[in-house]
Amino acid sequence: MKQLIKYAFLLISITTQAYAQDNLITNIASRKSVSLNGSWQYIADPYETGFYDYRYTELKESNPDAYWNTDVPSNKTEKKEHGYTDKYSLQVPGDWNHQKPEFLYYEGTLWYKKSFDVKKINTASRYFIYFGAVNYRADVYLNGKKLGMHIGGFTPFNFEIPAALLKENGNFLVVRVDNKRGADEVPTLNTDWWNYGGITRDVKLVEEPQTFIQDYFLQLKKPLVGKAPAARPEAEGWVKLNNWKHGEAVVISIPELKFKKRVVSANDSTALSFSLPKLQLWSPENPKLYRVVIATATDTVVDKIGFRTIQAAGKQVLLNGKPIFMRGICIHGEIPDEVRRAVGPQDARILLNRARELGCNMVRLAHYPHDEAMTRMTDSLGLLVWSEIPVYWTINFSNEAVLQKAKAQLKEMITRDHNKASVIIWSVGNETPISDTRTRFMHSLITTAKRLDSTRMISAALEVNYAALKSMNVIDDPLGQYVDVVSFNEYLGWYGGLPDQCRKANWSTPYNKPLFISETGADAKGGFHADSLTRFSEEYQEWYYKEQLDMLKRMPDNFVGISPWVLNDFRSPKRNNPLYQEGWNRKGLYDDKGNKKKAFYLLQSYYKEIKARDNRNK
Ligand code: GCU
Repeated sequence: MKQLIKYAFLLISITTQAYAQDNLITNIASRKSVSLNGSWQYIADPYETGFYDYRYTELKESNPDAYWNTDVPSNKTEKKEHGYTDKYSLQVPGDWNHQKPEFLYYEGTLWYKKSFDVKKINTASRYFIYFGAVNYRADVYLNGKKLGMHIGGFTPFNFEIPAALLKENGNFLVVRVDNKRGADEVPTLNTDWWNYGGITRDVKLVEEPQTFIQDYFLQLKKPLVGKAPAARPEAEGWVKLNNWKHGEAVVISIPELKFKKRVVSANDSTALSFSLPKLQLWSPENPKLYRVVIATATDTVVDKIGFRTIQAAGKQVLLNGKPIFMRGICIHGEIPDEVRRAVGPQDARILLNRARELGCNMVRLAHYPHDEAMTRMTDSLGLLVWSEIPVYWTINFSNEAVLQKAKAQLKEMITRDHNKASVIIWSVGNETPISDTRTRFMHSLITTAKRLDSTRMISAALEVNYAALKSMNVIDDPLGQYVDVVSFNEYLGWYGGLPDQCRKANWSTPYNKPLFISETGADAKGGFHADSLTRFSEEYQEWYYKEQLDMLKRMPDNFVGISPWVLNDFRSPKRNNPLYQEGWNRKGLYDDKGNKKKAFYLLQSYYKEIKARDNRNK
């Protein structure tokens, strides 16, 4: 029996390790690459004909009927029942749902194919195919050979191309994308957002030297609790070299500070620890970024990094040693008026400019890692970020493979953004139902997050114990013992009675930690006006915000901020009121055409008062 159990665990560990990537290349914008964005040909394949034979057995790699193999008959007698042609093409990056009316609700497999040439293959280089994200599962093939498989719809991944496989002409790149929801996936079957499928972010052919800078982490050392960083702050971190060789040296330079430091690497992870000259700390008021150059004998990477410290200290959140109040808003990665996934800097600017107009100094990027253009822009605009993996609602917490899938997405999220000063909170989930199994699962994620990045705060939207005490709602979720910020979603007045419920509501937590409202909101159909008791009217939503904002005056002294739900109306298959919703969640402060609703102005003036209060207290 013991042998059996041993082999079962061995099998689980082998299969679950399949999800973790250990060669993710960071700061892809700084690498030598060729974009593979643009028009890709496709085959929609709901019956998985390109992947399984008629007995539903996975096709062998060399099988000519497999959709990863050439669609060109070798002679006129050869039978081909698949093919790629411009008549069936999609733009990459981009979800398929908004590109073809027949794909609006499509959940299944779709094959993408791109032929490309390489001007000059450098035999001394290594080549990778990089994806910003593919929702949900991607199987990637080049010239008939499988490069790898990735699970997770919102994080980057890359596969190395075996040297002999890449050709100068006519490379045949095929990606099988499957966005079917699954009970043992992350997220699981049930989400309150649209299941946009496809190659939703950038695709690049990346060229690296034999030994290259794969990843690095550079942050200010966390100061003593409550202390501001020193005038000449201590920096620490590491540089990870891929295919490290003895004697490699890493040079870190920050030209504007006339700083240069050479560190000889003792192994593939070179530890960094040094004092920096006097510098401008990054903050929302002064989002100062420095050009940082990381170089070895064969590779150079240039990044823009802000230096700041962030920590939860007792009842407060301290940025650069000073308490802050987070004037947030939740944002989905979607452009509502075009009904599509957001991608790229222009979309990021649309979404973040709206948050700035609201008077925010923080955004909660719900409920999954957004495109890297968002966190690049929050760095330069000065917006604090809550970044989250989609461990959402009823995940299968008892399944080890599901935990590994969640950990893989957590690792990819942190690896991609751990040098972005604006990111201050890693969230491991949202509204997960309390059980011992769930708390063990979530605690394991928190432990992993802290191991990967000890410099940022960890949180999650916890469960609320309503009216635990008379008119006192208590956030005593057991997960609260492991997070740095106790956060919770509440909808008093939308999901619980009418907004006047707020008048007698109070909130507390037994944890001596900062308390944050990570969601609150009510639906309103933009342009629908009635009295304030009429559900879905702008006036109801306005009343809701008025009562909520009045309630905030009674929050306890560890209240550190709020990120109402939600900046924009967004698509959801769960919202089917034929008059007011029609497949849209209407809790946006902007409607799906970009018009502000009346409640927008209430929150905007509240944030203006808070900002003035905090400036007075500086
Ligand atoms: C939940 C959930 C959101 C959802 C919102 C709502 O709290 O976190 O994803 O959209 O409430 O019901 O509108």
